[in-house]
Amino acid sequence: MAKTIIVSNRLPVKISQENGKYNYMPSEGGLATGLGSIYKDGDNIWIGWPGLAVSKADHQKEITKKLKTESMKPVFLTNTEIEEFYEGFSNETLWPNFHYFNQYIVFDDDMWRAYQKVNRKFARAIAEVLEPEDTIWVHDYQLLLLPEMLREFAPKASIGFFLHIPFPSYESFRLLPWRRELLEGMLGADFLGFHTYDDMRHFLSSVNRLAGLGNSNGMINVDNRKVMVDALPMGIDYDKYAESAAAKETLEREARYRESIGAQKLILSIDRLDYSKGIPQRLKAFELFLEQNPDYREKVSLLMVVVPSRDQVGKYKELKEEIDLLVGRINGNYSRLNWTPIHYFYRSFPLNALSAFYRMAEVAMVTPMRDGMNLVCKEFIASKLDKKGVLILSEMAGASKELSDAILINPNDMGELVNAIKTALTMPVKKQMANMISMQRSLQRYNIHHWVNLFMERLHHIKHEQKALE
Ligand code: UDP
Ligand code: G6P
Repeated sequence: MAKTIIVSNRLPVKISQENGKYNYMPSEGGLATGLGSIYKDGDNIWIGWPGLAVSKADHQKEITKKLKTESMKPVFLTNTEIEEFYEGFSNETLWPNFHYFNQYIVFDDDMWRAYQKVNRKFARAIAEVLEPEDTIWVHDYQLLLLPEMLREFAPKASIGFFLHIPFPSYESFRLLPWRRELLEGMLGADFLGFHTYDDMRHFLSSVNRLAGLGNSNGMINVDNRKVMVDALPMGIDYDKYAESAAAKETLEREARYRESIGAQKLILSIDRLDYSKGIPQRLKAFELFLEQNPDYREKVSLLMVVVPSRDQVGKYKELKEEIDLLVGRINGNYSRLNWTPIHYFYRSFPLNALSAFYRMAEVAMVTPMRDGMNLVCKEFIASKLDKKGVLILSEMAGASKELSDAILINPNDMGELVNAIKTALTMPVKKQMANMISMQRSLQRYNIHHWVNLFMERLHHIKHEQKALE
């Protein structure tokens, strides 16, 4: 039977080693959580890195065997590859460039070579399982060269590609010395999907200027092969979050948490540790809000979850220190014996705990400086079974294009952020519910299943068109 081979740098499980034993935990990040619930249909398989360096052959074998039972196939990276390909080119070159943090970019030829080498390694892993009728679906910025590499040994294969982060404007992308190779790598795919229309437009403009290829309604002719590009905003597994919000374990947790926190109103903030997420700006806005609104002290707290991420990368280490300092300063200045302004957790939580947080929060602040999509805000909406609650959302997040009933803010505008907190905390319940119902309707409809089906439909459509032209 034909299968879909999903390929991403990170598998939906990450392995850690403790006392000589391997632990398997779910991965964080939108790509893994989003696709995690649907990839197992049929004979599908997910190929990716399990999150740690495993050098011993017998250990690799043990992990491979265990992952196979979960329809996964690991690609093992050496310590040098982790440093140069993952932390290096992927997260010190592409990530800052694609999120408009160009002052953070590291330009390094060794890292570029490692990026090419690891993309080739992924291509070989795919070749081991690829059969003629299979569909290959490549995900995200760590594997931009892979579609073209696959095309070389499987010219007729159906290859889809989806970018989970923003595609920057040409003026940002052109800074990369390897811009042309990166684009050509992507154009090996038959169908390329982006979260928003703007990302798609930026990509097409770079293709035009760097590869000299025009497009007609998102159709590009690459060496006599029709390639299609479209905007497909990723949804969430809506029912999973709604059901989890109603689960017994979630309700029990909520009751326990409430008892320890007290009756204050909660503003929720959940992100991976990342400078693209605007965490220090959010903290400063909350501090300013407390300063300007003394009557809200002791009545509202910020519940802030920062999930450890890429902590070997310099800019992430610096960010962690900045956040620690800010939280310390604000709590130091404003705490009372019976009130902590910020409940700060630097760790990840299981789904039931996240659901309890989503339920408990009156307000969610999702205020990234730049975000491809952002699933946390969608999960918050899906968890609001009583329809009460307010979302403050950055207009720089892809999700803002769909969630226009949120309070939309520019994360660089501190005054606007502070006002948004006040507006959210004082919004009449009737208005909260009207906004929530409208956002829930759209997220329920454009859920993850809809997204996967649409992606596959587009990919099959373009393959069909290609065949018709042969
Ligand atoms: N998440 C998680 N554990 C946590 C906190 C968050 O699994 O303790 C998940 C969260 O539910 C969401 C994902 O991590 O599905 C974050 O995705 P998002 O698109 O918001 O941001 P990304 O991390 O991909 O940049
Ligand atoms: C974002 C990226 C994913 C990545 C995730 C977690 O969602 O789009 O590709 O997997 O962050 O980051 P990490 O570096 O831990 O894989």
